[in-house]
Amino acid sequence: MSSGQQVVNGDGPVTLVTGGASGIGAATVRRLLADGQRVTVTGRDQAKLDAFAAELGAGEALLAVAADTTDYAAVRAAVEATVKAFGRLDRVVANAGFSTHDNLADGDPEQWREMLLVNVLGPALLVKAALPELTANGGRIVLVGSTAGIKNTPGNMYSVSKSALTSLAENTRVLVTGSGVGVTLIAPGRVATPFWSGHPQGAAPQGPVMTAENVADAITWALGQPTGVEVNSVVVRPAGQVH
Ligand SMILES: NC(=O)c1ccc[n+]([C@@H]2O[C@H](COP(=O)([O-])OP(=O)(O)OC[C@H]3O[C@@H](n4cnc5c(N)ncnc54)[C@H](OP(=O)(O)O)[C@@H]3O)[C@@H](O)[C@H]2O)c1
Repeated sequence: MSSGQQVVNGDGPVTLVTGGASGIGAATVRRLLADGQRVTVTGRDQAKLDAFAAELGAGEALLAVAADTTDYAAVRAAVEATVKAFGRLDRVVANAGFSTHDNLADGDPEQWREMLLVNVLGPALLVKAALPELTANGGRIVLVGSTAGIKNTPGNMYSVSKSALTSLAENTRVLVTGSGVGVTLIAPGRVATPFWSGHPQGAAPQGPVMTAENVADAITWALGQPTGVEVNSVVVRPAGQVH
């Protein structure tokens, strides 16, 4: 961390965002920092995280920790580093994820394995690692799913992974209900981010898209609900997207 110009609320909530150096995660981190909050951002590449932190100039308000979301020891270490740096952890945003952009007929099973680990196991590991801190603080969990986790398209393993995440959100909600922890599933439609760089066309297929900031608005709105209120599910599509 280095010194920055942000006015930081030292009593305010602390949020950990996985996969937060690009796309929806990065837009969410920017929103939280602009609000004077303290944030931990994770990803797999420390150099990329450091470059993102330097670009933001958020100083002591931002902690950048390399942690593969599929590695439980690394996820726990990120949670511990957050508590050590900021004294608390109130919210987690399980955002890291990707798509193989293929289908059951023509896809690569090894890539599906990785996708299922990142999109399903990763969020579960984060919930497990963070739950004691979140329970102590009456915290919140946001899981970034997808409209693909609500509507199936032909042979779509990404859709299978996000359907499991939809289930994890409700599964977690009924686990923690009564503990003071809130759980929100954010299911976006198509968003213009690096997510689409792995698509055969190198970009989102023709059609309406949202910005990462549009989804960050939904995430921060859910996080910012007053004590005693929890938003459990938000589906947000670009106008004109059918599924
Ligand atoms: N873009 C869309 O149209 C869309 C629509 C619906 C839902 N979503 C979901 O939104 C979430 C964010 O995606 P995005 O659109 O913002 O794409 P993105 O810009 O590609 O962001 C994905 C992030 O996940 C991180 N990541 C991937 N694997 C990881 C791992 N094993 N451990 C830690 N970090 C990992 C990446 O960082 P590193 O590569 O540096 O590790 C990257 O920062 C994903 O869950 C995605 O499925 C996206």
